[in-house]
Amino acid sequence: MDWSKPVNAEPFRIKMVEPVRMTSRAERERLIAAAGYNLFALDSKDIFIDLLTDSGTGAMSDRQWAGIMQGDEAYAGSRNFFHFKETIEKLLGFPYVIPTHQGRAAENVLFTTLLREGQVVPNNMHFDTTKAHVEHKRGKARNFVCPEGLVAEEVADFKGNMDLEKLDRFMAENGKETAPFIMLTITCNSNGGQPVSMENIRGVRRIADKHGVPLFFDCARFAENAYFIKEREPGYAQTPVREIVREMLSYADGCTMSAKKDALVNIGGFLAMRSEELYQQAIVWAVLFEGFPTYGGLAGRDLEAMARGLQEVVEEDYLRYRIGQVAYLGALLNEAGVPIVLPTGGHAVYLDAKRFLPHLPPEQFPAQALTVELYREGGVRGVEIGSLLAGRDPETGKNIHPELEMVRLTIPRRTYTDRHMEYVAQTVVNVFQRRESIGGLELVHEPPVLRHFTCRLQPVV
Ligand code: F0G
Repeated sequence: MDWSKPVNAEPFRIKMVEPVRMTSRAERERLIAAAGYNLFALDSKDIFIDLLTDSGTGAMSDRQWAGIMQGDEAYAGSRNFFHFKETIEKLLGFPYVIPTHQGRAAENVLFTTLLREGQVVPNNMHFDTTKAHVEHKRGKARNFVCPEGLVAEEVADFKGNMDLEKLDRFMAENGKETAPFIMLTITCNSNGGQPVSMENIRGVRRIADKHGVPLFFDCARFAENAYFIKEREPGYAQTPVREIVREMLSYADGCTMSAKKDALVNIGGFLAMRSEELYQQAIVWAVLFEGFPTYGGLAGRDLEAMARGLQEVVEEDYLRYRIGQVAYLGALLNEAGVPIVLPTGGHAVYLDAKRFLPHLPPEQFPAQALTVELYREGGVRGVEIGSLLAGRDPETGKNIHPELEMVRLTIPRRTYTDRHMEYVAQTVVNVFQRRESIGGLELVHEPPVLRHFTCRLQPVV
């Protein structure tokens, strides 16, 4: 123990526990084969540590649970909606907000309002549902993340940054008729939960202004992004996170939000914006897809939990613990020589499956093979972010093999202890020590859209 370093103790006490069950190796062998080597098909009761996602899997505070008991379930004009709206205006600076049942529903409302067939959406990196929603509107999703963002082992402070030059060139060549708005995902989930710097955000804003298009943030992990700016960007060390959040969002015309992440709730989302005109256009679709604009597919109590969660997520003690726990797991793995995406991001540690299993070609889904092996070894469920998730090119029908072939070990918020992190690290290290013996996988059933959720695979013999 290095006592010269501060101990990153959890800034909460545990008031309620949920038992988790350990399975035997033989049981897990049988279960994963029955699940078609797809971890989405496992029952959660058969998982010891579930790192599938940080989405909706966090623990709410006693204050949030108390808010649940104060739900006003009126169809229209619930008092919880007004608390929610006021919180968003104060915290993020947007006067108009439409609650939605989760993040992708906000994407659906926004894209239905603004995107036409054949148009293109530039983003640093689209999350998979965002890309799928763009394509559902017969648009094209284009990624403009900076080059270092695509090199797993390259250490840089803001690997979520947009490549400004490339974006500017693209906008100059295509114009606002082709690209009607720009998006920026903070933090950038698809390359490791990597943050975007304030300087880069300003740069994206300048490009949006130059080409006369609005800029929307995908805000799912905005507080984690703000904390990285405080820690890493010159000039922000003394700035309160709340102020950093306000400044970040001041450069956006609106945002989509999956509240299941940085609003610390189990379900919810929203679409927020500055323009009343856009709001009036968007509520037409929101009513159709989600419900009346003061509940948007949620219960009044959910809106209250979101309002309270949004206040808690910007507390600096919370963020120090949160980012610190993810970094702790990353450090344990890095010290053991396990190849991970560096530096660790905000919500997950990403194993670099290309370097972990160099003997497996991308056609054999190395990251999925590794995910399966972690379950077999220790009952840990991670998630593949690689060739399986990337799917096929809609034009050529060919498998896409992305630059990054990763397994994401996603840490739910306020849910697991650091001892759990040590257990996860041990599981990964055990697999790493016998990595040469791990074989690949092939598809036996492949649905046409978002295939990773429901496909079935088998070991390559
Ligand atoms: N945007 C980002 C950056 C996300 O990470 C997600 C969800 C969404 C949008 C969609 O939000 O799930 O509430 O509809 N990410 C989850 C994940 C599912 O596991 O990373 P949603």
